[in-house]
Amino acid sequence: MPAAGGGVRLGAELPKALVQIAGAPMFVHAARPFLRNAQCVEAVVTAPAGWEPRFQQAADREWGKERVRVVTGGAVRQESVACALAALISDAEFVLIHDAARPLVGEALIGRVLAALADAAAAVPALPLADTLKRTDEQKTVVETVERAGLVAVQTPQGIRRAAAEEAQRRARAEGFEGTDDVSLIEHFALGTVKAVAGDPRNFKITTTEDLTLARKLMELNGQCAGASGKNR
Ligand code: C5P
Repeated sequence: MPAAGGGVRLGAELPKALVQIAGAPMFVHAARPFLRNAQCVEAVVTAPAGWEPRFQQAADREWGKERVRVVTGGAVRQESVACALAALISDAEFVLIHDAARPLVGEALIGRVLAALADAAAAVPALPLADTLKRTDEQKTVVETVERAGLVAVQTPQGIRRAAAEEAQRRARAEGFEGTDDVSLIEHFALGTVKAVAGDPRNFKITTTEDLTLARKLMELNGQCAGASGKNR
C-alpha cells in the first residue's frame, strides 16, 4: 500500500495517510478490507521517511504485531510501490496495490479485481465518465471535444501478477520510465493483458479537504467506526 505521500494539499502537518477519519488513520481504513480477505497472505505499507514508527504502531494496534509491515517509501509513488514489492517475503502470485488515499474501498471491489486476474496479467477498477470531455490550450480556450466512448477513469486497487509487477518495476527503473498508475507499466512494457472491472464511485481518492469531509460523513453514515466496513461495494 503506497502511503508515503505528504499532507500538503490537505493542509495537514501529518502525512495524509495518518489523518484520522472515524477514529482511525486513513491508511488503516484503506487496509482493513484487504486484511479481512482470506487470500491476503501479507501486507506491506510504505511510510514517509521518519514516520515509520507511527505507522507501525497504528498497524500493530489494529491487527496485532507485525501482521502489517511498514517500510520506508520513495520520493514518488512508483518508487514507493517498488519499495513495497522489494519488501515482500511470501511467494504470493498476485499483488494488489491500493492507495492509502482511498479509505472507502470495499470488499466486493477487491473480489472483482482478484477474479479478473485469473486470466489477465493485471486488473484495474474503472468508472465510466459522466461529463463531456474537452481539450483546452494554455489560454484555456477550448480546442476540441474529446470522444468519450471507450474512455474510463481508473482507481486502485490495481491487481498485477507478481512476476509481471516485478519485471515492470525493474524495466521502469532501468529506462527511467514513470507511469501515472501501476498498470500503465504493464501496458508500456507490453507484459500482458490489463482487464478493467467495475469500479466504485465511493472509492474516491482523498485529495482536498472537501474530499476528507465527504469521506468522514460517508463513514459516519455507514456506521463505519471501529472496525466495521461496507462489504457490498
Ligand atoms: O498524492 P496522491 O494522493 O496522488 O498519492 C497517491 C498515493 O500514493 C497516496 O496513498 C500516497 O500516500 C502514495 N504516495 C507514496 N509515495 C510517494 C507519494 C505518494 O506512497 N512518494
